[in-house]
Amino acid sequence: MNAETLTTALAADRARVDACLEALFAERDAPAPRLEGAMRHGVLVGGKRLRPVLVYAAGRALGADDDALDAPAMAIELIHAYSLVHDDLPAMDDDDLRRGQPTVHRAYDEAAAILAGDALQSLAFEVIARSRHPRLAAMIASLAEASGRDGMVAGQALDLEAVGGHPDVAALATMHAHKTGALIRAAVRLGGLVAVAEDDARLNALDAYARAIGLAFQIHDDVLDVIGDTATLGKASGADAVRDKPTYPSLLGLDGARARAAGLVEEAAAALAPLGESALPLLALARYMIERDH
Ligand code: IPE
Ligand code: IPE
Ligand code: MG
Ligand code: MG
Ligand code: MG
Repeated sequence: MNAETLTTALAADRARVDACLEALFAERDAPAPRLEGAMRHGVLVGGKRLRPVLVYAAGRALGADDDALDAPAMAIELIHAYSLVHDDLPAMDDDDLRRGQPTVHRAYDEAAAILAGDALQSLAFEVIARSRHPRLAAMIASLAEASGRDGMVAGQALDLEAVGGHPDVAALATMHAHKTGALIRAAVRLGGLVAVAEDDARLNALDAYARAIGLAFQIHDDVLDVIGDTATLGKASGADAVRDKPTYPSLLGLDGARARAAGLVEEAAAALAPLGESALPLLALARYMIERDH
């Protein structure tokens, strides 16, 4: 898959999940319209939609129908959006700009942002539960595990504890694997589970791929914080250094961080070998993870 085909495929999948997400908020007689507005701001405005794109690509690689992939694609983006709304709060990273817009607590207020994040999280589970897929229970368990105390929330806790500290590379990898890697792994696993049973060995190949790209993705996020500009990123560049966050560039230098991310993409590519040609879009996505400019 060349860069042009990838760009077209990304745009199509983004449009697909965007339409599904829009529909969740359309023509609703919401009991709390301001909360609804804050949720919309958190999830509908911008975003690369990389996790939904991974759900589609992983599911298709194992033969799933697109229609059955919509619910997990929406669910993973809703969890991700909630994580960003809370990540930006003053008590966490205290950021004012996200996806080129004021963060939710800036556009609304802190309480609204906390509540919008809470409601986005429960909406994710509602969406997936309503899908009535035969492997629904396994999907819900995977999403919950990846989101909570063994996944993203654990990573966010480690991230905040690490401020001003000097973790070694192994500790940083653990933090990144949780705060970012867990949801990326869940995206790939959910797509896979739409197609095949939990004991299918192809899920292990997908998981090895997902672990590698999950870490590569966050290393590149750290790199972009150093080399990117705020307008392109849609969020403040240089924010990690200002907050004294340990990052891959702070530990390994920019070149070292980039080399590590490139090595992980090669690992991801090797992991896909058993899946053959059907995994080519996943391979292209792995490369995109570390070539993207925002
Ligand atoms: C940003 O994720 C937060 C991290 C986990 C590093 P993305 O770079 O996927 O953000 P959006 O969804 O495109 O805004
Ligand atoms: C955020 O990591 C990870 C989650 C939201 C779970 P960062 O704090 O590095 O993400 P950005 O750089 O603000 O997008
Ligand atoms: Mg953070
Ligand atoms: Mg942040
Ligand atoms: Mg970051």
